[in-house]
Amino acid sequence: MEDLPEGLALSNAGKIAKRLGTISGGRVLDVATARGGFINTLMKTLKAYDSFVGIDYCASDESRKLMESAKKRFEGKPIRFFEMNAENLKFEAESFDTVCISYSLHHLANIDKVLTEMKRVLKNGGNFILQECYCDGDQTEAQKADELEHEWEARIDSLLGITHNKTFTKQRIMDVASSLKLRELEVFDSTHPVDCLFCERKYECEDPKNQATFHNSIKYIDSVIKRIKDYPDLGTRNRFKEEGERIKEAIAKSGSAPASYLFIIGKA
Ligand SMILES: C[S@@+](CC[C@H](N)C(=O)[O-])C[C@H]1O[C@@H](n2cnc3c(N)ncnc32)[C@H](O)[C@@H]1O
Repeated sequence: MEDLPEGLALSNAGKIAKRLGTISGGRVLDVATARGGFINTLMKTLKAYDSFVGIDYCASDESRKLMESAKKRFEGKPIRFFEMNAENLKFEAESFDTVCISYSLHHLANIDKVLTEMKRVLKNGGNFILQECYCDGDQTEAQKADELEHEWEARIDSLLGITHNKTFTKQRIMDVASSLKLRELEVFDSTHPVDCLFCERKYECEDPKNQATFHNSIKYIDSVIKRIKDYPDLGTRNRFKEEGERIKEAIAKSGSAPASYLFIIGKA
């Protein structure tokens, strides 16, 4: 692999990509796909695949727009997107060779129902891939600032009736993985997502205080504040706005970097 920034090189992302490079995905289902970010990662890393299906229940206009943008982004590729609740998948039993879910466990109202459905549509011997960030462990100040933002954003979404829980602990993710009763379970722990490996900004991002990252974080916080612009209670709106400003200050001080995550692969 090409020379990588030090943090990324030490992160396990390369090891995960290498492992994905040994997997023939066949027909792949990506649950809670949003704009298909994980499909993009798998397309670049899997040894082979036949086709992808991405589903999302599009809880908000924002997530509906994301899925629409995904349809355009992957035009011409063997991918189909459907608006669908993962608690009730409209697919035949054992109709996928691989099922996956990325950064979404903490967005689910009923994890057990979704996982049961994912296992139902997965062929016997098929691959189950799970990627989820965690909030504990040894994370940098920049990652902690990002976690502050996430926890605040999750409370805003909850206020609007959209399921968005706090980031899970490592143990909680491991408990979910054990509940799946998969065979040949492999668990990778990483500070950098696999998609950083092929991102043009990987050198820039290595410094969590770089200007582009800072400006993106501020812009993102402002966009989250806009979500509650029509919320009826002015006091609540102002309280969240003030909190948002304090998080911007924390990010100005420490920078911002994505949380570490567990990447789990097993067989049904
Ligand atoms: C953080 S985003 C997903 C990110 C994406 N998987 C990735 O790795 O880039 C979480 C998504 O979960 C979706 N979601 C939550 N509950 C769902 C359900 N029951 N069925 C389908 N999608 C769901 C939300 O609409 C949202 O788009």
